[in-house]
Amino acid sequence: MKDLLIQGVRMVDADQELVGDILIRGGIIRAVGERIPAPRGVPVLPGKGKTALPAFLDLHAHFRDPGFPEKEDLLTGARAAVHGGFTVVSLMPNTEPVCDSPEIARYISAKAREIGLVEVYPVGAITVGLQGKELSPLEDLAPFVWAFSDDGKGVEDHELMWQACRKAATLGRVLFPHCQFSGMSDQALAQELMVARDLWLARRAGCRLHLAHLSTPGAVKLVTLAKAERVPVTCEVTPHHLCLEGDYPVNPPLVARETRVALLEALKVGVIDAIATDHAPHTPEDKAAGAPGISGIELCFPVLYTELVRPGALSLAELSRYLSLAPAQILGLRKGRLRAGYDGDLVVFCEEEFTVSEDFFCSKSRNTPLLGKRLWGEVWATIHRGEVAYLAGAIKGRDFHDHRQVIPSG
Ligand code: DOR
Repeated sequence: MKDLLIQGVRMVDADQELVGDILIRGGIIRAVGERIPAPRGVPVLPGKGKTALPAFLDLHAHFRDPGFPEKEDLLTGARAAVHGGFTVVSLMPNTEPVCDSPEIARYISAKAREIGLVEVYPVGAITVGLQGKELSPLEDLAPFVWAFSDDGKGVEDHELMWQACRKAATLGRVLFPHCQFSGMSDQALAQELMVARDLWLARRAGCRLHLAHLSTPGAVKLVTLAKAERVPVTCEVTPHHLCLEGDYPVNPPLVARETRVALLEALKVGVIDAIATDHAPHTPEDKAAGAPGISGIELCFPVLYTELVRPGALSLAELSRYLSLAPAQILGLRKGRLRAGYDGDLVVFCEEEFTVSEDFFCSKSRNTPLLGKRLWGEVWATIHRGEVAYLAGAIKGRDFHDHRQVIPSG
């Protein structure tokens, strides 16, 4: 059942805002307008008093499957994603085994398809076992992944990274580096040096580069220069590097207020393209032992809405560009706009305040400095290709199977 009519909802995307109806048939948005007559048999979701955006796409998440089911797995990760308003996730290869072979990439895709809640795009490892010593079989991996990354670690060896750039260019895949040289006392420099190197190598090789979780003004400056020279580079920033401060362990580390302002400015002028969560679930034991990361996919929208949109630092249309349109364009998907012909992927939220409690989460992990905080913008519904994946606390496959069970037919 891939048909749905959403009525009387405020709609916002990167380029427009109106109040009206959205008709999805066969999983595709067919019409958007002030009043659309309900076709017979199409379920109706009343949206009065709520706001619909294109569903979010996460370019950067860790679902820990295979290997670390105590932190997360593909099922709980997918549930957390739809609870956060996401219908697409790109998954990092630091699993166990590492996603450095077609077998692991195929396992991830097949299991995600079987779960059927969100679309999963695996990222393959640049180096075997993320060891930084030898290239993964990139030709064999390429048909099953959209990008290559050693996320969690920088590739330190210049010649290895140069060969990775050349192969990525030949294979038509994106190189998605985690830019951070190890062993440096200054974390900003550690990032900026590797950003500079990778931009230079990608420029020479002509490969597409997508830079993970940028967090320093120097890195932004380097990307500005590269974009002016038409180096094919895109980049992302996380919600926590835009909104949070303190010493909660995360990699790269949280940054000071002036830097957060600079990162926001870089988004607004188009130097940073997208916001990606870096959803990094960990058990309390691993966190106590110092594991870096924030379980962020479920609170991504509420924290950005509360910290940036409500105070007026960012419009909802801008936020929609960074969470939906830009990542859709980077992945090459017809998503991210509320317009006829685009996929029927929507998120609907309400303007109510809520408290982040332990039982808020669908993820197995709750490692976030936001526990106990009051936020606005709780996701009310997530629609994937015209099917309700999440609605008011109920998740498809867990609490219902056919969305007619939760929405009466119109
Ligand atoms: O904080 C982080 N955690 N940053 C990364 O780059 C990796 C991630 C993880 O896998 O836990």
